Amino acid sequence: MTLARRIDEVRAALAAARRDGRRVALVPTMGALHAGHLDLIRRAKAAADFVAVSIFVNPTQFGPNEDLSRYPRPLEKDLALAEAEGADLVFHPAPADMYPGDMRLSIGIRGLADHLCGATRPGHFNGVLQVVNKLFNIVRPDVAVFGQKDIQQFRLIETMVEEFDHGIALIRAETVREADGLALSSRNTYLSAAERAAAPAVYGVLTSVREALSADPARAVEPLLEAGRTRLREKGFKNDYLSVVDYATLTPVDRLKPGEAHIVAAAQYLGTTRLIDNLILEP
Ligand code: PAJ
Repeated sequence: MTLARRIDEVRAALAAARRDGRRVALVPTMGALHAGHLDLIRRAKAAADFVAVSIFVNPTQFGPNEDLSRYPRPLEKDLALAEAEGADLVFHPAPADMYPGDMRLSIGIRGLADHLCGATRPGHFNGVLQVVNKLFNIVRPDVAVFGQKDIQQFRLIETMVEEFDHGIALIRAETVREADGLALSSRNTYLSAAERAAAPAVYGVLTSVREALSADPARAVEPLLEAGRTRLREKGFKNDYLSVVDYATLTPVDRLKPGEAHIVAAAQYLGTTRLIDNLILEP
């Protein structure tokens, strides 16, 4: 496995892989790799002949009061995990190489970022699209793999690829969970023992909303969500959102639209740790 720190090193390695006619997959991450990330690498290997994994804690997607400085960065362990999973290249740039000076351009977003995480993390998805656009241009993958865990991010990247004609096939990988349902996240390491014990309630509430709506798709969603928020509050969570949105527009709905896919999604704080999770409601 090659470790590339600089953009020209990545380009050279990728040019060699392409000369051999290899199909290239990219798995963008911020590191602190867990079994969810490793599943993305496995899916990338199944879809391509050369797998590049990027590990970059992207400063432009963190707000001023967010966890940029304390975000875990266990690089040696990450490299060993990526190599064991069969990655061919890890791209681990320095922030100054990705952002050598003031960046003058950004990708504007109309719709899709008005609700869910976009509503409470202003600028977050502009930073995500900025870095993913750069990674796509640096690696020029045939296919890229992202997790359903960050469903709004996935929908925005899907839209960017479509509207900007990146010509990259996207794979949406299902969320990998702990045995008790908690979605794996690099941020789970922030949880105290008591918070870790309470954390699976997010998945529990999402599951009960999904069950109630599949039993009676015509019922009003808000009372269900309010009951879910109360249940979480009683377990010590601070609500950011618990919503049911239309899959296509990511806009909250009062009732499910017949024949359309929806998402039930949550962002909930336990102490200072923000946990997100979601389930897709297929029509
Ligand atoms: P990060 O949070 O490291 O996640 C990297 C990828 O792993 C994302 O596609 C995310 O959806 C996926 N992922 C996270 N937890 C998962 C789980 N439990 N099961 C399956 N997949 C999971 O998302 C980012 O980094 C960044 O925003 C990035 C796209 C790298 C841009 O900086």
